[in-house]
Amino acid sequence: MSNYRKSYERNPLIKDTVPENPMELFQKWFFEADAMDSIDEANVMSVSTLGLDGYPKTRIVLLKKFTWEGFIFYTNYNSEKGRAILANPKVSLNLFWHGLERQVIIKGHAEKIAENLSDGYFESRPDGSKLGAWASDQSKEIDSRKALDDKLKEFEVKFQGQEIPRPDYWGGLIVKPISLEFWQGRPNRMHDRILYALQEDYNWKISRLQP
Ligand SMILES: Cc1cc2nc3c(=O)[nH]c(=O)nc-3n(C[C@H](O)[C@H](O)[C@H](O)COP(=O)(O)O)c2cc1C
Repeated sequence: MSNYRKSYERNPLIKDTVPENPMELFQKWFFEADAMDSIDEANVMSVSTLGLDGYPKTRIVLLKKFTWEGFIFYTNYNSEKGRAILANPKVSLNLFWHGLERQVIIKGHAEKIAENLSDGYFESRPDGSKLGAWASDQSKEIDSRKALDDKLKEFEVKFQGQEIPRPDYWGGLIVKPISLEFWQGRPNRMHDRILYALQEDYNWKISRLQP
């Protein structure tokens, strides 16, 4: 891999022309990524937490919504990440769109969204995914694949012919950002990095970082 030499030749990111609110730029970048045929799931992002063991851990989740307030994904609140966030809500998100030579790095605080919002999203999921949320004690050890499949069958029988309710341990988390860094690949590794940092007066300070 030491011989890999890709040159990043895309458009510049100019501090004086970016919007005052980073969510506006995020929306622009997200829509551009989403419109690209070569980008399969533009909403794939990593979430890093600081674990109860003191180690950071990063895993992929799907960004399901973003608003002026923040970034929403869904998970099991009792999972390793759920427990880590309960103890320390400071998280980092990362989205990388290879075809656009762009990444966005977000730092922020994660909190549960309102229950009715989680209900609304849960209802929109296919039954198989709903049952999966019941059957999986996410992040806990299990003896075998068969034991997992048996749990799924149990819930299929339990909820047969009924609306499948949302388990109270499953729902959305919103990450409210304190900073967003927009990274645009440029030639000669002289990449553009524009950082938005939330100030005490809730305005965003915009600065350029060296690549
Ligand atoms: C493409 C992709 C999408 C994923 N989406 C989610 C998701 O939206 N929510 C989720 O809880 N896990 C999702 N996962 C699984 C997580 O990466 C992870 O395995 C799981 O959440 C357990 O993480 P934890 O034990 O650190 O809590 C996804 C994995 C991949 C590869």
